[in-house]
Amino acid sequence: MHKIAVIPGDGTGPEVIAEGLKVLGAASKKFGFKYETKIMNFDGERYLKTGKTLEDKDIEELKEYDAIFLGAIGHPAVKPGILETGILLKLRFALDQYINLRPVKLYNADFCPLKDKKPEDIDFVVVRENSEGLYKGMGEFKNKGTKDEVALQISYNTRKGVERCIRYAFEYCRKRNRKKTLTLSGKTNVLTYAWDLWERTFHEVGKEYPDIKREYAHVDATTMWFVKNPEWFDVIVTDNMFGDIITDLGAMIQGGMGIAAGGNINPEGVSMFEPIGGSAPKYTGKNVINPLAAICAAGMMLDNLGEVKAAKAVEDTVIKLVKTKLKSLAAGKMGYSTSEVGDLVAANL
Ligand code: IPM
Ligand code: MN
Repeated sequence: MHKIAVIPGDGTGPEVIAEGLKVLGAASKKFGFKYETKIMNFDGERYLKTGKTLEDKDIEELKEYDAIFLGAIGHPAVKPGILETGILLKLRFALDQYINLRPVKLYNADFCPLKDKKPEDIDFVVVRENSEGLYKGMGEFKNKGTKDEVALQISYNTRKGVERCIRYAFEYCRKRNRKKTLTLSGKTNVLTYAWDLWERTFHEVGKEYPDIKREYAHVDATTMWFVKNPEWFDVIVTDNMFGDIITDLGAMIQGGMGIAAGGNINPEGVSMFEPIGGSAPKYTGKNVINPLAAICAAGMMLDNLGEVKAAKAVEDTVIKLVKTKLKSLAAGKMGYSTSEVGDLVAANL
């Protein structure tokens, strides 16, 4: 029995999560696994009513689950930063989900904004460090509000934190068994402390993986290659901030936020799966948002729970529908409503 905590969250989160759960239900019937869910309302509405984001006792409760399925965090009536740090980042940090795994895979060339790129050209995975870097929130103001103000925002990188991320990426690349190439995406030419540590660790750990080819690209060049030669990539490892930025670009070249899913992974603990697109307030409640990112996140969750066949079936079904049925991956343009897309996946599993 898989115990899944469900946090629908804000905006379109609940709508896409409903479709993810629909597909989970269909998959459990077809593949014969059992699961139970508990809906938890850690979101902007609750914050507006109670002033609460996420308390330590909530974290303790979540630790009892096998996985977390999250919709989106971000509410237009709440000042930016409060829910993001109070809920989403708190979950990632407190549950030590130190990997943010973001596959970038094009399912249908018609939905790719790049000229002449086909599904075989865009198929790579970004391993984003998810517990340190600039996201650590370290820093301070000096002389705040004066003309001599200084704001420090520190990128915090520990050898242990960097090493466990890099090691995960090498293992992942080996298991993926494709080009067997791991690219470190950084900024060794300017950020000479953090990226010195990353680069040294990358090559030291890399010696233990002689079957994996090591490459390095500066992060700015990485964005260029995403557009020009995405076929060069297999697995990319990078820090939290760079990973945040390049995976939005990755989402665009695979067809948009409607299809981009990610996993916040603690290999030894509770992992959390989410569509990476955000709460999309302007589409909320209209039954137009694309639920495929949430459905793909549910697929990644199934894989993480050991339901490998079911996970593969979810992905294969999404690929088939994206190739044959959907007119677009964008909200309101799919040719189907949000719930119809969920029905289609569930029926075609
Ligand atoms: C993401 C999001 C979050 C991040 C925000 C909402 C805090 O952009 O998951 O990529 O920056 O990590
Ligand atoms: Mn982001």
